[in-house]
Amino acid sequence: FSLKNYTTFGIEAKAKQFASVQNATDLATILKENSTQKKFILGGGSNMLLTQDIDALVLHIDLKGKKIIQENDDFVWVESQAGENWHEFVLWTIHQDFGGLENMSLIPGNVGTTPVQNIGAYGTEIKDTFVSCTAMAIASQEIKTFTKDECHFGYRESIFKNEAKDQYIITSVVFKLTKKNHKINISYGDIAAELTNNNITTPSLIDVSNAVIAIRQSKLPDPKVLGNSGSFFKNPIVLKTDFEKIHQKFPEMKYYDISPTEVKVPAGWLIEQAGFKGKRFGDAGIHTKQALVLVNYGTATGAEILAVSRNIQDTILKTFGIAIEAEVNVI
Ligand code: EPU
Repeated sequence: FSLKNYTTFGIEAKAKQFASVQNATDLATILKENSTQKKFILGGGSNMLLTQDIDALVLHIDLKGKKIIQENDDFVWVESQAGENWHEFVLWTIHQDFGGLENMSLIPGNVGTTPVQNIGAYGTEIKDTFVSCTAMAIASQEIKTFTKDECHFGYRESIFKNEAKDQYIITSVVFKLTKKNHKINISYGDIAAELTNNNITTPSLIDVSNAVIAIRQSKLPDPKVLGNSGSFFKNPIVLKTDFEKIHQKFPEMKYYDISPTEVKVPAGWLIEQAGFKGKRFGDAGIHTKQALVLVNYGTATGAEILAVSRNIQDTILKTFGIAIEAEVNVI
């Protein structure tokens, strides 16, 4: 079974067996019946690079449904099943004037995988509105609820990438959103500039969403047109004591303070300065408008994309003395 259309990188790879699952009961049955089989969980496929065929039963999590589960005068609790498309879910909340997810418009992928790496964009992360998620234990099929604290969220991190890796399938997620007094967050320079360009001084949720969509479309490739997985690397976090020495050598290097002892450096800047932006190695390349995004021009293999990513990592380490880590799951 070809997985080419199941990941946003559009890489050809075959699954030994494949099943698409529409509800939790079927999911439990399939897990039980195939308890001795190796399993591989696939959500929206927007954050993975397949570098080989998958010698396992691939389970495509396609649980649908979204609803309001609780509300008061100020807040609403909405629940989405894991297989809902993230952006469609965000638009559904915005159209009801529920606030909190607007800065994360147009992020590819499904709702169920958003907690795994605590997705974020333009000054917001899902941990800011996340309440809990339910997940099915692969081994026992028991359903467990993970509260926000239990998820151990960090920058593109959660328990599902660490202690609980490969043990659970997230089946639904609950977010707490505002019904009034929305906390409009336009702290990210690009959003403020986009709104000013459109003469918007008091932006609504839809205005913010539209600004985010415009910014993303201007620099991030549409996976339907050009295969990619968004940012391929995380922005590295560097100790201030180390950074001071690096910064003396490279005074133009951009950075953001993130704690009293650490800074975050934009990996896109490092990659661009190292000369990789827009470069192409066969069908594997570095996006022309955003150096943090690796792209598949058509028939790149996962191994070719991986080789480009290693070349970038090695060069950045040699040039700047900074190690950058993949954000995408390399399989
Ligand atoms: N930059 C360059 N050259 C480039 C790209 C970036 O010099 O080719 C520098 C610029 O100085 C720019 C800075 O990097 O000001 C930051 O760039 P940008 O605003 O595009 O954001 P980013 O740090 O590259 C992160 C997230 C994105 C998210 C944006 C906006 C990570 C790994 N990536 O990218 O998330 O959309 O901020 O908040 O944290 C993703 O995770 O897949 C993703 C797209």
